[in-house]
Amino acid sequence: MSLFRTRRSVKTADMDINRAVPRALLTELLEDAHRAPTHGLTQPWRFHVFTGDSRARLGDGLQDLFDRLTPPGAHNADKRAKLAATPRLAPVAVAVACRLEPGGKIPEIEEIAATSCAVQNLLLSAHAHGLGAYWSTPPVACTPEFAVWLGLDAACRGLGVVYLGYPRGNPTTAQSPRNPLDAHVVFLDR
Ligand SMILES: Cc1cc2nc3c(=O)[nH]c(=O)nc-3n(C[C@H](O)[C@H](O)[C@H](O)COP(=O)(O)O)c2cc1C
Repeated sequence: MSLFRTRRSVKTADMDINRAVPRALLTELLEDAHRAPTHGLTQPWRFHVFTGDSRARLGDGLQDLFDRLTPPGAHNADKRAKLAATPRLAPVAVAVACRLEPGGKIPEIEEIAATSCAVQNLLLSAHAHGLGAYWSTPPVACTPEFAVWLGLDAACRGLGVVYLGYPRGNPTTAQSPRNPLDAHVVFLDR
């Protein structure tokens, strides 16, 4: 189906920063994300939607976490600057987090898988509604500390940020390549 075949990551440089995304549309995308499959119905995904001035707060928060969590010697000025800049360059930043079921009944990998399904729903819904989107996962945004920064409880961990916005000008439709399918799929008849 063409929705799946035409989706591509659209980076902030190709988003129209001056065109707001209506709240009702964002709610629609998140309703689609919320329909993801979830083992035991734990619904582990959490989304915090940053628009307007709150995007700067997100950028500064990510940069503070970078300063706190990066070991001495591993500091990189470009990466640090990008953490603060990127949320300011997209009309919408959706911080993603995952709640790991504390009882241990649902393994961690399944909760991360379910949250990833929700993110894919979000990306596909954005594409279906004419929005550009991509999932960004800088290491500091994939930590329990980022989830705490968002105000979530200690059973949660960050899983990056999805950036959303209407594409600028005449967006390219060029897609990233994929290997031949038979390098990834095996059919077994007996
Ligand atoms: C789990 C996950 C994490 C990703 N993290 C990043 C990221 O940190 N920065 C980035 O530019 N793209 C990121 N991407 C997007 C990929 O780079 C992109 O999907 C890939 O290049 C294929 O391009 P396409 O989405 O246009 O098919 C991520 C994608 C996934 C699934």
